[in-house]
Amino acid sequence: MNLKEKFRHVLNFPKEGIDFIDITTVLQDKDAFKYAIDSLVGLVKDLDFELIVGPESRGFIFGAPVAYVLNKGLVLVRKKGKLPYKTVSVEYELEYGKDVLEMHIDAIKPGQKVVIIDDLLATGGTTLSNIKLVEKLGGEVVGIAYLVELTYLNGRENLKGYDVRSVVQFE
Ligand code: PRP
Ligand code: MG
Repeated sequence: MNLKEKFRHVLNFPKEGIDFIDITTVLQDKDAFKYAIDSLVGLVKDLDFELIVGPESRGFIFGAPVAYVLNKGLVLVRKKGKLPYKTVSVEYELEYGKDVLEMHIDAIKPGQKVVIIDDLLATGGTTLSNIKLVEKLGGEVVGIAYLVELTYLNGRENLKGYDVRSVVQFE
């Protein structure tokens, strides 16, 4: 399977100058979707952890099936105001824009090991915020896995010291 060719590139979305990697063309292709999930499972299955952290919204799509396959719990990171119980929160910056991310205060117990899964690594801003939320609760990030890594944005530089893995890279 050449997964890389299954992504659609949308130029100048959501604003001028951005080459948007569209995952919907992977999701709607049953073989590509299965290959994507199986690949993510393969990337993290050697790690010792209890929980997967998935950031809204595209992180849910990949985090949930990987958690199911590997029999792990799933922790949701959501945009401000969506989680019903008490939360920890952190402000974050994106490739385009700013927002606040939240996690339930009882989502992770001190000392619990987690793996963060998201669809794509761009600047690393989203993931850094996820890491902050996990660490605020005393959790330990033992791995971070993406379906896609935009290597030309050097997001890894922002995630030094963490075990960063990706299925497909765009240069
Ligand atoms: C996108 C993508 C990653 C993040 C990557 O999410 O799904 O989560 O940006 O960019 P970064 O590495 O520069 O943080 P987005 O915030 O657009 O929202 P979505 O997942 O709800 O579509
Ligand atoms: Mg996202």
